[in-house]
Amino acid sequence: MKFKTIIEPFRIKTVEPIRQSTEAHRAAAIRAAHYNVFQLDAEDVLIDLLTDSGTGAMSVYQWAGMMKGDESYAGGRSFHAFVGSVREITGFRHVIPTHQGRAAEHILARAMLRPGSIVPNNTHFDTTRANVEHCGAVALNLPIAEGREPETIHPFKGNMDVAALARVLHEHAGNVPLVMMTVTNNSEGGQPVSLENIRRASALCRAHRVPFFLDACRFAENAWFIKTREPGCADKSPLAIAQEMFRMADGCTMSAKKDGMANIGGFLAMNDDALAATCRNSLILTEGFPTYGGLAGYDLEAIAVGLHEALDPDYLHYRIRSVEYLAEKMIAAGIPIVEPPGGHALYLDARRWLPHIPPHQYPGWALSVALYVAGGIRACEIGSVMFGRQPDGSERPADLELVRLAFPRRVYTQSHMDYVAEVLVYLNTVAKDLRGVRIVEQPPVLRHFTAKFEPLPR
Ligand code: F0G
Repeated sequence: MKFKTIIEPFRIKTVEPIRQSTEAHRAAAIRAAHYNVFQLDAEDVLIDLLTDSGTGAMSVYQWAGMMKGDESYAGGRSFHAFVGSVREITGFRHVIPTHQGRAAEHILARAMLRPGSIVPNNTHFDTTRANVEHCGAVALNLPIAEGREPETIHPFKGNMDVAALARVLHEHAGNVPLVMMTVTNNSEGGQPVSLENIRRASALCRAHRVPFFLDACRFAENAWFIKTREPGCADKSPLAIAQEMFRMADGCTMSAKKDGMANIGGFLAMNDDALAATCRNSLILTEGFPTYGGLAGYDLEAIAVGLHEALDPDYLHYRIRSVEYLAEKMIAAGIPIVEPPGGHALYLDARRWLPHIPPHQYPGWALSVALYVAGGIRACEIGSVMFGRQPDGSERPADLELVRLAFPRRVYTQSHMDYVAEVLVYLNTVAKDLRGVRIVEQPPVLRHFTAKFEPLPR
């Protein structure tokens, strides 16, 4: 390549204005929101990095596909387009649409788990864990040690500890009805899993005759990391790598709000006929008829196109590079982040950045508030507010105090990221003066969404 600038591989045809705001306006807005960014009106946010889920921009081909949406209740054309796309990529025989990822998880968990069952995963995402536990089963995380060390550089920090998996399968033989692998590993920083790791986990599961499912939300980003980091994979296409990942699994759950490039949707896919029949029965009860599963025909069309767009090498190159670009600016400014950066998000390490704020004063939360007030940027704490409260009501600091800056797909440009970097570099100059927060009111579960906070006095 003669030129090294990586351009956004799209032109912008429709724009959504961003409402500018002053620091005074934002200070008032966050006060009214009880210092909880989830309680803000999105219109009061300048750059919204709360999540990459369902927040992406669709392409002209997806919108064109939506016009073709067949809204028949049963056997619609759009269902066949959707199944064709999912099957080409995953190879799974049965494809069951759902309204989003957690619905697929719920149906799968109900079909496969009993009270006391153990479900190993590299790391369960919150909704996966909740659905496993809802069945009375145990959600067991088996990440490699490096996955928990923000400063350790490792190409596949999302990997599963396969030796630990072997022990669990051996010690709990007969009580592990399902093993899952989350690609990329969102809860460990959007970190990828290698083909080698998937292969080893899959082989163990097959030897123990335990179904092995991928939580495939970010399968395309994971495929790109494999292409660029795993020996022998550089010449393979992301599609070929994705197909190889899925070939080693017996099924998958998927949120099409991520690498489906859609604003809503998901699916459950598998090879087992009897399991598929059970899942379809449960689908009819909770989501809808098996050929639409809680989605409109036009949603199925958008996903059918989006899944392939997510595997486009130009798109993936730009996508992964834009996170890396912001990460490089943080590293240059001495701002601590989880390294290497993940596929869909950059994670700030608030524990290292704000060592003067102890865990019980929630440094990550304080940082998310400061980021909003200073620059109108909305990000999500993944720390002691999210994880610190124990089932018995007591408090225990989370392992890490992170703030996630998630990148919506095809939404923000490089200058948006330059702005984000500038705000963060500014915050670095006043980091010592940032104060912690205290909780004044909180619900019993999932408190981060609705808890009310107060800044602590200096
Ligand atoms: N699995 C993973 C790894 C996820 O990241 C998510 C959602 C889900 C499952 C559930 O999918 O939202 O369609 O029901 N993650 C979003 C996030 C919410 O912000 O990381 P869903």
